[in-house]
Amino acid sequence: MTTFDIGTLEDYVHGEAVQVKRGDRVLMVVRIFEDIYVLDDRCSHEEFSLALGEVDVATCEIECARHGAMFQLKDGQPASFPATRPVAHYDVVSDAGRLQVVVS
Ligand code: FES
Repeated sequence: MTTFDIGTLEDYVHGEAVQVKRGDRVLMVVRIFEDIYVLDDRCSHEEFSLALGEVDVATCEIECARHGAMFQLKDGQPASFPATRPVAHYDVVSDAGRLQVVVS
């Protein structure tokens, strides 16, 4: 199992998306209350940065800032057009308070 350390829960602000680079990966991290969601930071429509989008904490989705496609944070599935393909989603495990993104 390969993991990337992305810090602690306290490093992230509820309802905000941030870009996190680890190695050659560019990830988008969102905290909603005590949960952390990680997707590739690349919209499946035209490869725009999802970290620039707006988080809907009520539906647990993020809106791409470019054309408005919505994606589910829990699995990266598109929730509205124009996106029709999912964005890669990664599981996150906590190791003594450190958040570890599982990439394989
Ligand atoms: S680039 Fe994201 S919806 Fe078009």
